[in-house]
Amino acid sequence: MSKKQLLKIIILGDSGVGKTSLMHQYVSKKFDNRYKATIGADFLTKDVEIDGQSVALQIWDTAGQERFQALGSAFYRGADACILVFDVTQQESFAHLTSWMQEFNIQAGKRDCVLIGNKTDLEDKRQVSSKVAQQWCQKNDDGIKYFETSAKENSGVEEAFICVAQAALKKK
Ligand code: GTP
Ligand code: MG
Repeated sequence: MSKKQLLKIIILGDSGVGKTSLMHQYVSKKFDNRYKATIGADFLTKDVEIDGQSVALQIWDTAGQERFQALGSAFYRGADACILVFDVTQQESFAHLTSWMQEFNIQAGKRDCVLIGNKTDLEDKRQVSSKVAQQWCQKNDDGIKYFETSAKENSGVEEAFICVAQAALKKK
């Protein structure tokens, strides 16, 4: 039997976009409508099987409110991949993606990354189209894939986490 791999995945993005909600939905299938800002950073671990290999996904959730402060190098150390999140109903959270990605690249070195546009259940309030988000991915990097999710309705969440884990696993 092959050894279990550990993958460290970091979730980044503005405050309120749904980083904590996505992590809880993915790891424990729970969703809470109330907003409680994350302070600092924390992680949850989920055991999964990817391409026949058992993997422990260590998913790090961060505080969006600290984006102008350094999160500290310990948080980024050993990161295998990154999930960038914006809220499809908040144009501003989309505009800030480049600075989040730059921060990650500086701190962790170039790694696999996926982009999530979250809160697709609020379609009538949408400010960022899928097309524009996809164009951002193409413009920024060869490998960034785009996913649309609703942490509330558990739509697209699993796919996005598995995709980034698969890409990171290939490089291990
Ligand atoms: P910080 O910890 O401040 O960085 O925020 P965060 O990115 O962790 O956001 P959080 O997950 O706390 O979600 C913020 C608010 O958006 C909460 O009230 C959530 O219930 C709500 N929310 C998260 N995901 C969704 C979603 O897919 N749809 C809807 N309608 N609301 C969502
Ligand atoms: Mg949070």
